[in-house]
Amino acid sequence: MFRVLLLVPLVGALLLSSILASLAQPTEAEAKSVFEGLGCIACHRSGGIAKSWDEIVSKYRASAGRYASLDEYVRAEVSQEVKNNLGFDVNSWSDLFRVMSQLTGRSPDDPGVKTVESYLASLLGAQAPEVTQPPETPVTPTPTPTPPTEVVRGEERLTWGIVLAIVAIVVIVLIALVVGLIVMRR
Ligand code: HEC
Repeated sequence: MFRVLLLVPLVGALLLSSILASLAQPTEAEAKSVFEGLGCIACHRSGGIAKSWDEIVSKYRASAGRYASLDEYVRAEVSQEVKNNLGFDVNSWSDLFRVMSQLTGRSPDDPGVKTVESYLASLLGAQAPEVTQPPETPVTPTPTPTPPTEVVRGEERLTWGIVLAIVAIVVIVLIALVVGLIVMRR
């Protein structure tokens, strides 16, 4: 009898953790405060040398779905601006985030940088580069291969979160019913 009762919190905890994991995609407000905390706003603010967060977000929303890949977006929309303003060559999405993180003295693997990166990637709705796929027009060779960013669109995650939440509720109610029946029968 007690073994059955022990299962309830266990299953509940398992389901809850999967729901939380599926909702892990940051909201805009979260991504914005991470961006501010990283120090990116030294340049990225209104009146600064680079676009403010709000300008970046609205540009990305407007560009959603227009590029086949994140690398293509960077080459078409960012390379020239970064070259003009900072003198760096960025030819891919991972190049861009490597340069940007280094400007703030961080590693490209910094969890905050990853949060901002995956949030912006989800806005564009384009695919992250494959590790095995060489850059199409390499002007400078990429020194460090970066693992592919997991791009899952925000809405997709949300839908899954809701589906999982409903499944979790149904399962928990069923378990409660079964446990209730067993207890009443004793
Ligand atoms: C030394 C100044 C500087 C710092 C610090 C800096 N950036 Fe940039 N960033 C630029 C410039 C200049 C550009 C290109 C011009 C623009 O986008 O306004 C740029 C471009 C970008 C772009 C591409 C924008 C587009 O149009 O698609 C992203 C994304 C970006 N930065 C993210 C970051 C993040 C994240 C950080 C903090 C980890 C950061 N930047 C820190 C100067 C900086």
